[in-house]
Amino acid sequence: MPSPTVPLRDTPTVYGRITRALHWSIAALVLWQLFGMTLRLIFGRQPFVSFFVGSHQPVGTVLFVLILLRVIWAFANRDNRPSHGAGLVGIGARLGHLALYAVMLLVPSLALLRAWGSDRAFAPFGVQVFPAQTPPVDWAVGLGDALHGELGWVLALLILGHVVMVGLHEGMWRDGTMARMAGTRALRR
Ligand code: HEM
Ligand code: HEM
Repeated sequence: MPSPTVPLRDTPTVYGRITRALHWSIAALVLWQLFGMTLRLIFGRQPFVSFFVGSHQPVGTVLFVLILLRVIWAFANRDNRPSHGAGLVGIGARLGHLALYAVMLLVPSLALLRAWGSDRAFAPFGVQVFPAQTPPVDWAVGLGDALHGELGWVLALLILGHVVMVGLHEGMWRDGTMARMAGTRALRR
């Protein structure tokens, strides 16, 4: 039997192809960002670390755009996507996902705000996005300095919790949660 195709848009049974492409590309790139910053924290300015540090601003800028698209797409599909279920676990999942959305949007936004307010031009791909500010916009730079890195680590903790919960769904409850975000198993029932 040929595999059923995953629809473009979300449905009450599965997340569609666009949500999935956004979820997995954002997941891979966010993990890249966090991995690079963890290496920087542990090893400092070693040559192999500078490869990750050098990609941090361009990859983060691409992430900001992908995350914006994702929030818009989630909103457009809000009445037509898999339910989180009733009860405490359902409420927990909804709150957990809401926190993931909020923090993953805030982290690159704060970095871009700081880049906008900085006295150095911001050109992540060699093309100037923000010119240098003279004098720098202190509140924007201050907010980014105070919160970008810290919330980046909060995001890492949220992701850890998220992956542990997916593991519980798969390993203990076996309720087909993963099948809604990957593969075609959920469509064959
Ligand atoms: C790499 C390991 C990951 C796995 C195995 C995974 C798996 C999943 C699965 C199975 C769902 C569907 C849950 C459901 O139907 O209720 C989901 C949803 C979600 N994931 Fe992940 N994920 C991973 C990484 C990430 C990362 C790194 C982020 C954030 C940067 C993230 C953000 C989200 C969000 C916000 C949702 C909710 C989607 C919605 O209802 O709009 N995930 N994930
Ligand atoms: C979702 C995307 C992003 C994630 C997950 C992320 C995560 C992080 C983390 C965890 C740190 C380390 C903080 C520390 O050393 O304790 C960091 C630092 C940094 N990030 Fe990002 N970042 C992202 C996007 C961006 C963007 C778009 C820019 C540039 C506009 C940027 C610029 C920086 C800079 C300059 C630092 C070093 C200064 C600081 O610690 O704030 N990041 N980032």
